[in-house]
Amino acid sequence: MKKFTVTSFQNAKDKGEKISMLTAYDFTTAQLLDDAGVDSILVGDSLGMTMLGYETTLEVTMDDMIHHTKAVVRGAKRALVIGDMPFLSYHVSVEDTIRNAGRFIKEAGAHAVKLEGGIEMVDKIKALVAAKIPVVGHIGLTPQSVNMFGGFKVQGKSAEQAQAIIDDARALEEAGVFAIVLECVPSELAKKITDIVGIPTIGIGAGKDCDGQVLVIQDVLGMYQGLQPKFVKRYKETGLDIIEATKAYINEINEGVFPAKEHTFTIKEEVLEKLY
Ligand code: KIV
Repeated sequence: MKKFTVTSFQNAKDKGEKISMLTAYDFTTAQLLDDAGVDSILVGDSLGMTMLGYETTLEVTMDDMIHHTKAVVRGAKRALVIGDMPFLSYHVSVEDTIRNAGRFIKEAGAHAVKLEGGIEMVDKIKALVAAKIPVVGHIGLTPQSVNMFGGFKVQGKSAEQAQAIIDDARALEEAGVFAIVLECVPSELAKKITDIVGIPTIGIGAGKDCDGQVLVIQDVLGMYQGLQPKFVKRYKETGLDIIEATKAYINEINEGVFPAKEHTFTIKEEVLEKLY
């Protein structure tokens, strides 16, 4: 089994092969996705919404991220694991950024980190790369800026906005990121950026011309009941399966069907007779 590494990202783009990425937040899911052959697992701060029930990602802490990233790393044998830096873990200072990113690598065993933002993040990215921490950029709709954007909206529809996103992509490449997530931008803009930069682009709501795709696993499995953006494709309705299985379990308990003989331990009759 050949591990998917940071250099595999670039090799894939150079050979015109697509890169698959999914989020995961726990050991069991990571193991299943890894067995299925996904190239990379992102421990996204989307776990704030999918696992912890917050309305946005803003409440997520470094300790939350480290806890979940450790579990994913234990489950992923081939996939490259990326830890998502949470809100305010890389905004205050370069020193803070290195310390927090370092925790993903040293404590959790992640292979790389992701952070949101463009030109304004260049000094932090350069410092991380100098510290030998591989970085993925994230531009377009950056959910940690939801309050600045006034909601979760498609970005880059005007010429001015689109040019700013292209400038951000160029700045990120120049700063040393090894891939860029493009979220919720028009597909034509994503294609243009994919052609301009030499590093891989990973799209989410950015059309089919990106070098790879990422989605949130709860969306792919049809488990998350909250906000469903247009770009989500639900490959299964696992949420409905869970409800159905739970109802069957409850009914069987009530009807005395479960546990059956095959789920039950016994002792010998003569042992039972000695009991008083
Ligand atoms: O947090 C996350 O899951 C993400 C992806 C949606 C790109 O940032």
